[in-house]
This record gives sequence, C-alpha cells and structure tokens, in this order.
Amino acid sequence: MNDLSNTPPAPAEVGAQVVRRKDYRPPEWLVPEIALDFALSLNATKVVSELKVARNPAGPGGSTLRLNGEGLTAGSVAVDGQPHNDWHMDGDDLVLDLPGDAHTVTIETTVDPSANTQLSGLYASGGMLCTQCEAEGFRRIAFFPDRPDVLSVYRVRMSGEKAAFPVLLSNGNPIASGEGADGTHWAEWHDPWPKPSYLFALVAGDLVASRDVFTTRSGRKVDLAIYVRAGDETRTDHAMRSLIASMKWDEDVYGREYDLDLFNIVAVADFNAGAMENKGLNIFNTRYILADPETATDGDYDAIEGVVAHEYFHNWSGNRVTCRDWFQLSLKEGFTVLRDQQFSADRGSAPVKRIEDVRVLRAAQFPEDSGPLAHPIRPDVYQEISNFYTATVYNKGAEVIRMMTVLAGTERFRKGTDLYFERHDGEAATCEDFVRAIEDGAGLDLGQFRRWYEQAGTPKVDVSLAHAGDTITLTLRQTVPATPGQPDKQPMVIPLRTALFDRTTGRHGGEQLLVLTEAEQVFTFPGHTAPPVLSINRGFSAPVAIQSPATTEDLVFLAAHDDDPFARYEAMQQLVVQHLVAAVEGRLTSESRSAGREAIGGAMAAILADTALDDLMRGELVILPGEGYLAEQIANVDPGKVHDEREALKSWLGTTLKPQWQALHDRCAAVPYSLSAEARGARKLKTQALVYLAPADPAEAARRAKAQYDGADNMTDRQGALMVLAGLDLPEREAALADFHARFAGNMLVIDKWFSLQAGSLHPRAIEHVKALAGHADFTITNPNRVRALYMAFAANPGAFHKADGEGYRLIADLILRLDPINGNVAARFVPPLGRWRKVEPKRAALMRAELERIATAPALSRDVREQVTRSLEG
Ligand code: TRP
Ligand code: ZN
Repeated sequence: MNDLSNTPPAPAEVGAQVVRRKDYRPPEWLVPEIALDFALSLNATKVVSELKVARNPAGPGGSTLRLNGEGLTAGSVAVDGQPHNDWHMDGDDLVLDLPGDAHTVTIETTVDPSANTQLSGLYASGGMLCTQCEAEGFRRIAFFPDRPDVLSVYRVRMSGEKAAFPVLLSNGNPIASGEGADGTHWAEWHDPWPKPSYLFALVAGDLVASRDVFTTRSGRKVDLAIYVRAGDETRTDHAMRSLIASMKWDEDVYGREYDLDLFNIVAVADFNAGAMENKGLNIFNTRYILADPETATDGDYDAIEGVVAHEYFHNWSGNRVTCRDWFQLSLKEGFTVLRDQQFSADRGSAPVKRIEDVRVLRAAQFPEDSGPLAHPIRPDVYQEISNFYTATVYNKGAEVIRMMTVLAGTERFRKGTDLYFERHDGEAATCEDFVRAIEDGAGLDLGQFRRWYEQAGTPKVDVSLAHAGDTITLTLRQTVPATPGQPDKQPMVIPLRTALFDRTTGRHGGEQLLVLTEAEQVFTFPGHTAPPVLSINRGFSAPVAIQSPATTEDLVFLAAHDDDPFARYEAMQQLVVQHLVAAVEGRLTSESRSAGREAIGGAMAAILADTALDDLMRGELVILPGEGYLAEQIANVDPGKVHDEREALKSWLGTTLKPQWQALHDRCAAVPYSLSAEARGARKLKTQALVYLAPADPAEAARRAKAQYDGADNMTDRQGALMVLAGLDLPEREAALADFHARFAGNMLVIDKWFSLQAGSLHPRAIEHVKALAGHADFTITNPNRVRALYMAFAANPGAFHKADGEGYRLIADLILRLDPINGNVAARFVPPLGRWRKVEPKRAALMRAELERIATAPALSRDVREQVTRSLEG
C-alpha cells in the first residue's frame, strides 16, 4: 500500500452525460436529402440548411425532431417553406414537433471559422476554410441529427470571394459553378452516395492541385487531385503514387472498386488527427502528404503510404458501409487498419511491417489495456466519443480481425468480407453484423470469439512444456486481467501458430495452429526423443502476452534459427526483456548480470554477422525493447531504474561490439541514397550503429554523427545523426541543431522534427530544453502538430517525463490546462501518460495523481479532458 489511500476522491462530476451502447434506439426521423448553402467568409460564414426529413418507419414513433447543435444559434427556422416559431432549444439542440410524415426544414445559422480553435466543424487554417466533422463536428456547422445512422444525399452550394477562395470543394461531383457580383464566385457539388454527416466536407482556399488519373478495373476513369499550398506541389508525388497503388490493391485483394469520377485530397497544416476519409474529399494533415528525400524520412514515406491507403480504403470500410453508432467505431477503424497493414506489407517487407505493427501495439495499446482507460474494442459507455479513437479501437481492433484471417485462411476470409460488403452496402452496420458476415461467408463459428469485442484487457497465456518418453506435453493456461467495470472474465479464443524445433538439426516438423479456447488446455506431440525448443505465437497470431518458460539458451537458439521472422525478433526481445526485468527488480547477481549480457551480446553479434539477413530485418533484430514495454512487465515500477538499466545495457553492447558497430556504420554509409529496400536498410542500421556507439564512446559517436549529418543528402540520415547528437552533452550538439533550424526555417513539418528531437532526447536537461522551446518563435499552442512535436515527444521520453521530482508531470499537466480551452480534443490526448500512476512506484505515483487532481479541480474543463481525468483517477 502507498500513502495515496487518504487523498480525497475526485470532485463529483456535475451533470456528466454518459452514453451507453445498450441505450441505442433508431432515429425517429430520417433525412434522405440535405441542401447546404454556404456564404463563405473567414469570420462569419452564413449557412442555410434545407433538410428533407421523413418519419422513420423503423423508428420508435413520436413526432419530435431533435437537431443537434453545438454553439449554434438559429437565425431563422422554416418548415415547408413557412416561417416557423414552434421550436425550442434543449441545451444546444434545436427541437421541434412535426405533425406529418415528411417535411422540409430550413434553418439559417452563422459560424465564425476564424474563432474555431477546436478545429472541429468549419475552421480557418492559414487563410483557407476547411471542415472536420468526425465524430460530432457537423453539429458545429448546422443543426442536424448528427449521428452516423442518418444517411443523406448532399447538395452543397458555396459562394465567396474569388481572390480569397479560388478553389471551392465538397464531396461528390461538381455540378455547376459561376461568377457572382463584386469578385465573388460560387460552386455547387452533389454527392450521389447517401452518407452520414460525419463524412461531410468542404474546403475553400487558395490551393494548387497535383493531378493524375486512375482507371478502375471496370473502366471508370477517375480524376485524382491532391490540393496543397502553392510551393508544396513538388512534394506530392509519393502520396499520389500511394493513392494509385491503394486503388489498385483494393480491387485486387478485396474486390473493391472506386465509385465516383473524382477523388480529391486536401492537405491542411492545422489538423487534430492524421487524416479524414470524407467521401470523395479526403482531408489530410500535411504531414501525411508532403514528402521529398530532403525533408522526409523513410519512416515518413511509410507513414504517408499507410495513411493515404487507410483513408482510401475507408471508401468501402467506413463510407459505403458505415457505423450504426459510435460504439461500433472499430467496425470501420479496426478493419481499415488491418487493410492498410496488409497493403503496406504487400508493398514492402511483410515481416518488417508485422514487427513494426506489433511494436506499436505493445507500446500504445498494451498500456491502455492494463490501465484505467482500458475498454473493449467495442466500448459499452462513453462521455466524449473523441476519447475512444484509441489504439484499442484501431490497433487491437485490427488484431482481432487479423485473428479471423488466421482462423479462416485468406480465401475464406475474403468470402466473408465479400458477403459483408454485399449484405451491408449503403447501411449503417454494427460489429455484430461484421462478425456474422464473416461467419456466414467464411463458414466459421465465431460464437466464443465474440468475447474479443466484449472483454478489455490483454490476455495472458502461461506456457509450460513437459517431456516424457517421446511425447511433449504443452500446457496452456489463459487469464484475462480485470479491467475497469469488468472484474470477471471468460476464456477467449486464442489462435497460436506454434512450432517445435529440434535443437540438433535446427529445424521443426511443420507449424501447427493451436486454438486455445479453455482456461487451461493440454496439447500433446509425439515423436520427440529430445526436448525441443518451443516457438509459439509465431507471427504474433494473437494479441496476447505469452509467459513462457524459455531459457536463455532457447531464446538464443530461436534468435538465430527461427524461420518465422517475427518469432526470431520476439526471441531477441524476450532475451533482453528477461535480463532487464531481472535487473530492474534487483534479481541479478554480478555473475548472472554478466552471463545475461554475454548471451545478449553473443546473439546480437550473430545477427550483425548473419549474411543471410537483409538489413531492414537486421535493423529490427537489434532494436532493444522500449522502456514503456519493459515497464509494463514490472509492478510498482521505478521508471528511472528501467531507463538506467536499459541505457547501461546499450552502453555495454556499444562497448563490447564497438568494432562491429563501427564497421557497420562504415559499410552502410557507403550505400547511396535510393528508396530500395537495401538502401533503406542501410540507413536504418547506420543510425542504429550510432545509437549504440553514443553511450560507449560519445566523442567517437559525435564525430561519426557529425560526418553523417554534414554529408547527408536525405532526411533519414540527417535526422538520425541529429537525434544522436541531441542526446549528447557535447559542442557538436548546438552547432548541428542551429544548422538544422536555419536550413529548414519556414518548413514547419521539418521544424516539428527539430522540436521532437530535443524533447525526446537522452540529454540530461531535456526538460529545460522543452521549457525553453515552448517560448520559441516557431512554437504555437494552437497548432496540433507543433504541440504534439514538442509535448508528445516529451511525454514519450521516460528519462525526462518521469524525472523523480515530478517536474515532467507538472509540465504536462500545465500544458493540459493551458490547451484545454483552446482544443479539448488534443488536450485530452495528454492525460493517458499521467493516468498510468497506479503502475508506478509510490513516490512518483503520488506526484502523478496530484497533477491529475489539480487538473480535475480546474473550473471549466472540456468534456474530453474531464472524462479522461475522472477515469484516470477512478479506474
Ligand atoms: N476517421 C479518421 C481516421 O481514422 C480519424 C479522425 C480524423 C479523427 N479526424 C478526427 C478522429 C478527429 C477524432 C477526431 O482515418
Ligand atoms: Zn480510420
């Protein structure tokens, strides 16, 4: 027990509105058609909305039409063309009673885009106007039943000053345009596909387009355009290539063809998320569009390819088949993440992509699943839906559907998705609809499997292996930990790809799929005269934590011999995890410490020398498990110790393998720049060599890093070198940082890297650097990219964030309080790092909790931050 038990409870929530999945009711009114007319201006845009409403035959009955609004006032209301006064406001909603079965409701509102700092609804970004409506932003533009099961055909007219807004875009097809009086012009758009309000989009501004064409497999010619600010059009090639590849891939792999004559993308610099799949008019954060070798890393290229694909794939998984309600969010997001992962795997190295995806899951989702914010991939309750755009809904959601592919096999899974799209095209569907379609189409029984949608928490699988005579007995025991609101759990369906290796031949007799369905299950394997080495959860076939009895020897064997690349990576990770967890928990003697290090060093030396490995994969195998993932496995963890032990091991490996790292750096530095796998692999290893050399021989690392920086002809090398220099307390550091800033002045996406490298650095005074950077002329709290670049990088830097005096916690809490009135959505994203206090040793836990309580007592919190803080204190 710690000294926290006497602290008072968080102040009771005043009128906290809770939405529950079980309370879903169909809408009383549908809106088959809507016409919107925008008179555009940066600070007073007039919106006239004309809703054709029709009583829903499947609705609960009743005549009340509730139109959601947020901060809107109705200038005028008319019903069937007649001024109408019989309406009232219920909170932010406009409510009216309508006698008949069908009416036309016309409402006028005026919004101020330039005052919209939340970046939800209609807002201004660098002189242009754009929208973000998911999840509930449309109600900040017009009164409307703002829920995804109300689908409408949209007609949009907009007019405005031609000089300020030369380009006028909305969903669907342009149907008319013309000149108005006094330098104005107008355009009219029509989207033939009925859609929910969250997919509405409008963009007006001074933009230039990069264009291309894609011809679908049935011969439809689709005009493609990527709209950016003048000057940025030279950096859209990679995004365009990614888009074309996505369109082709979805036809080939899922049989999904595009369904409009044009597909537009707009890149905006102020954006809350990564990108948005609005029908026919995707809106992107500039960081997921703009790239060239000088300014974008290989990682940036991959992220662009993945996000462009993700948003494009939503055209079917999200738009043609949408969500009935927001509890079903994983229906579109989990499935679409899986689809973008499969696409990227096909485009590059599938094993490396799998490893990266699992690393993200472990770094972002496992902590969520074991903390106060844990929720099932299909949540049961929320206060603010924006808080549920999580790694659980997205990434674990993808893993759950991936398990269906493992159980069904590729071909049968495809039959399932074909049936899903056919059955639910044009509908607002549920996760249950998806599961049933896969069951029917693929011929699977997913009865018990549905628990993956219901139960939160990462299942643990305890493995034990016994050998008697020539038979191996494998005993698997699963437990699903208690999570907030879910104290008792039922056994899950856990598909585990498994192989048993012969130690002498280094081979296995074929992989098997073991499907664990009981709390405890025993599997036997005859024909083993000697105890084999177990390789389990190969390819990470299930998103679980395996507690294996593997010895150091077994892990070294698998790290060298496993023919499943993921399993090989996993063995290497496990080898390091076992060692570092024991070190942090104080269980190492000086002998076992050096034995552990020798084993890791030997395995790593073998990986560096293995000529059969490609460099991209080698780069994965030499990455040490992250501090967050390590901390996850330790109760009452001291993050400072995790950091120190991990750094100590890195330093030891740097020293012990110094000639190898130097030779590697030399070899890779000689590979010329290209986007080939070989060249990318070389770039990845080049910087990794520096990472190991830095703690071992800072002067030598700084010399090499400076040479890499000065000679760089691409951002991957330059950023890698600068990252290493930023962590060193040496004169080369300041010079390189100053050069980088001067070289890329004005390119805010690159300046974001400059902020992040300093905030995420290993430098002992990183926290002071962050405080100073917050006052830098390039920093602005109103831009989410800037805020994330500085403060997310800091919150993800355990050595700085977890400083023992709590200064890091205070810095993040101060940020949340300052940002919340400006942008509650982004502010709430900073609560989870503080919410992990229960996992941390008592002194830091008290400091973290105190910051949460300080936030909780602030007078006017957004619903976003309020919910996250309350759950973090209670859960
Ligand atoms: N639907 C978007 C995606 O995953 C996510 C998104 C875009 C979003 N904008 C948002 C989520 C704003 C929350 C808030 O592709
Ligand atoms: Zn998505």
